[in-house]
Amino acid sequence: MSTAAPLTTATSTASATRSRGPSRVVVSPDMSQKDLLDTAARRLYPNYRPAPMVLARGQGCELFDVDGRRWLDLAAGVAVCSVGHGHPELVRTITEQAAKLMHVSNYFYNEENIRLADELCARAELDRAMFCNSGAEANEALFKLARRHHYGRGDKGRTRFIAFDNAFHGRTMGAVSLTGTPKYREGFGEVAGVTHVAYGDIDAVKRELGPDVAAVIAEPVQGEGGVLPAPKGFLLALREACDAAGALLLLDEVQTGVGRLGRWFGFHESGMRPDAIAVAKGLGGGFPVGAMLCTEALAGALPPGTHGTTFGGNPLASAAARAVLRIIDEEGLVAAAKKKGEHLSAELRAVAEALPNVCEGERGEGLLRGLVLKKGLVVRDLLPKLAENGVLLTAAGERVLRFSPPLVVSEAELSEGVAAVRKVLADVPPP
Ligand SMILES: Cc1ncc(COP(=O)(O)O)c(C=O)c1O
Repeated sequence: MSTAAPLTTATSTASATRSRGPSRVVVSPDMSQKDLLDTAARRLYPNYRPAPMVLARGQGCELFDVDGRRWLDLAAGVAVCSVGHGHPELVRTITEQAAKLMHVSNYFYNEENIRLADELCARAELDRAMFCNSGAEANEALFKLARRHHYGRGDKGRTRFIAFDNAFHGRTMGAVSLTGTPKYREGFGEVAGVTHVAYGDIDAVKRELGPDVAAVIAEPVQGEGGVLPAPKGFLLALREACDAAGALLLLDEVQTGVGRLGRWFGFHESGMRPDAIAVAKGLGGGFPVGAMLCTEALAGALPPGTHGTTFGGNPLASAAARAVLRIIDEEGLVAAAKKKGEHLSAELRAVAEALPNVCEGERGEGLLRGLVLKKGLVVRDLLPKLAENGVLLTAAGERVLRFSPPLVVSEAELSEGVAAVRKVLADVPPP
């Protein structure tokens, strides 16, 4: 039975009403799943295409709808719920911090935020943190950081960015301009001065790296673009090319960061250090929090008054992120992501080998993995069938079935999910 939130509706079967200003507000504690879906269809802005299920509760890697039906969640939002749903330590921390102090403005320090900055910078091996609320905002901060860095040094002509085809950086105007899939930019115009080149093509980057380039921005593994890892040595080659050209190197670690790839951040083990990175998604374990992290050399690029956000770095979000970092450490989830990722990879490879008419192969790192389907198949069309079989997954690009489970997932749960995928794919006619 639903415990629906109050909804503003004139038609629902009300069991209690109260007036809030001029419009009538009907509080209905007994809306069925169908009532909720009908109300969603009328009231929610239709910019998404959600599956027809209303989720109400989660535990670990399991999600339950308002009628109590269970799904295995191997998507974790999209790579967000890093420590699983309802982790007791995260829940306790958020609850206690909410009672203690939820928000102060950026006119004051707060203890949780200072501690988070220190703990996050130490893990990222970077020096400074600026907090925000989402991945797009973190990339927006990178964008502004790079332009202001050169501007502040009197190099006002350095405003252009090099980004990559199929990259995804978010939906704000700056972030969407960096995004490499034209359909996301269509009709919005763009913030001038972004050149997109093929991901992994260092020669193409070098050809574009003129004296007008402020920065190159890349994902260590392209997530939305199809779970595509950077070719070996690519990040290091980017670093060298940027240094030679006087441009900054920015990494979007929104999907790859905070342990997902089996190391704290995607650039670790690459032999290079970027100038700045964007972090969000898994950092709050489901609580909205993002960050821009950079080297000490960039600490002066955005002086007071040039950038900020009301909610960035608030005590509640900071406490949540600190709890996530603590849980990841205490439960050894970075090393576990690597080991469980190998298990998942082997199982997905076996599916690809067993069903060569519909699968092309598997790829990814750690617990960000994709099963690549044959050209002509559309993953989005298969997701409802997978949900019918009890597994929630997402599409990355047109034909990559993405696994981005909570880092606490067990090998048994991964195997359960892969078995459902195999069953569904066995019935798919080859393209
Ligand atoms: C690599 C990357 N950057 C940025 C974003 C945007 O993050 P948000 O939706 O939190 O704004 C995403 C979201 O999928 C992402 O995968």
